[in-house]
Amino acid sequence: MRMVDVIEKKRNGQALSKEEINFFIDGYTKGDIPDYQASALLMAVYFQGMTAEETALLTQAMVDSGETIDLSSIKGHKVDKHSTGGVGDKISFITGPIVASVGVPVAKMSGRGLGHTGGTIDKLESVEGFNVEITKEEFIENVNKYKLAVAGQTGNLAPADKKLYSLRDVTATVDSIPLIAGSIMSKKLASGADSIVLDVKTGSGAFMKTLEESEALAREMVQIGNNLGRKTIAVISDMNQPLGYEIGNANEIKEAAEVLKGKRVDDLRHLALELAAHMTVLAEVFDTYEEAYAKLEENVDNGKAFEAFRTFIHAQGGNTEMIDDLSLLPKAAFDIEVPAANSGYVNSIDAASVGIAAMHLGAGRATKEDQIDFGVGISLQKKIGDYVEKGEPLVILHSQEQNPQASIAKIKEAYSVTEEKPEKPTLIYKVIK
Ligand code: URA
Repeated sequence: MRMVDVIEKKRNGQALSKEEINFFIDGYTKGDIPDYQASALLMAVYFQGMTAEETALLTQAMVDSGETIDLSSIKGHKVDKHSTGGVGDKISFITGPIVASVGVPVAKMSGRGLGHTGGTIDKLESVEGFNVEITKEEFIENVNKYKLAVAGQTGNLAPADKKLYSLRDVTATVDSIPLIAGSIMSKKLASGADSIVLDVKTGSGAFMKTLEESEALAREMVQIGNNLGRKTIAVISDMNQPLGYEIGNANEIKEAAEVLKGKRVDDLRHLALELAAHMTVLAEVFDTYEEAYAKLEENVDNGKAFEAFRTFIHAQGGNTEMIDDLSLLPKAAFDIEVPAANSGYVNSIDAASVGIAAMHLGAGRATKEDQIDFGVGISLQKKIGDYVEKGEPLVILHSQEQNPQASIAKIKEAYSVTEEKPEKPTLIYKVIK
C-alpha cells in the first residue's frame, strides 16, 4: 500500500477501508510515514470528512497504536470527563476534585494546548513540581488511593493521537468532527474508564462554532463510546465567551482553586457541578441528577472538594503551598489594561480571539516546539451583559513585554460594546445520551 494513494482516495472524497486507516495510523506512529504526508491526509479529511464507520475505525486504530490501561484493579466505577476544548476552560480542575470528594474514582488522561485553546496538562504544570509523566502503575495507584489522577499522554497510550494532535495543531486541521472524535475517544477508551462525560463546546471559542456541528460531534462520540461498552453522555455547553474570568495557565489554576474554595464564579461553578452530577449518576453513587448536584454542591461549600484538589496536587509532586497561597503561582512581569473605546454593554466577546491573544502572550504554542510561559495570561474585567465606561479596562493582560501589540489588537477585535443590553448567553444547551 502507498500513502500517496490513501491521500488521493480521501482527497477525492471516498471512504477509506479498515486496512487503509490501519496502514496510516500504524505507519505514522512508527515514523514510516512522514509529517508531510500525514498533514496532507489530515487536510483531505478536514475537507472531505469521514463516515461514522471510518471515524469508529480511526478511533480503534488509534487505541490499538499503543497500550490500554486496565483499571479493573481500581475499586468502584471509574469515570472520566473530557472537554472538546475552549478558552478559559479550567472545568476539569474543579469537576475532578468534586467527584473525587464523594469517593468516585476519576482517572483522567489529558492533552496539551491545541490551537487557541489551553491544555489541562500545561495548566497543571504551572504548579511547581507537578508531574504528569507518571507510569501506568502510579496512575492506577493514585486513583486507587486518592480517587483522582491526571496523566499526560506519555508512556504508550494512544501514541498515534499524541503525534497527530501536535501535527493538527500546526496544520489548521483541528476543527474536524472525525479528527476530534477520534482524538478524544481514543484517549478515553485507552485510559480505561467505565463511564465518560463529554463537555462539547459550542460557539465562537469552540472548534465547533454552531450548535448543529457541536451536536453532530457529540452524537458521534457518544455512539463510539456506547458501542465500545462505555456509558457515555455529552453535555453541550457555551463557548461564545471564555469560561470564567481567567485565561492562561497559572491564572486558570488560580481561578479553579478559588471556585473550589467557595468563590461564586457562576458559569464555572454551575458547569463544573453539572458535569460532576452526571459523572456521579453514571457511577451509580446517586440516583438522580438533582440529588447528585445538591450533595456535590455541599462538598464545595464545606471544603471537601478543595481538600481533594490539594491531595491530588500533592500526590503528583505539586507544591501545595502554591495552592494554599495562590499569589505564589507564576506571574508575568507586567499587568497591562486594555480600555474600552466607548461606553455601553458588552455585547459579544469572540472567545477564539481572546485565546489567540493569550497565545501571543506566550500562554499557548504557535509551533510544536514552542515553550509555554506559565505566568502570562488574561484576566477579563467585563463579560457579556456587563456595562463598561469608556476608558475602563475590558481586560488586564499579564505580559512579559511592556507593549504586547498583537495581543492588545486581538482583544480590541474580540470585544463588541453596544448601547443595547444583550441577553445573558445560555450556558448549557443540551445533554446527549
Ligand atoms: N481535545 C482533544 O483531546 N482532541 C481534540 O482533537 C480536540 C480537543
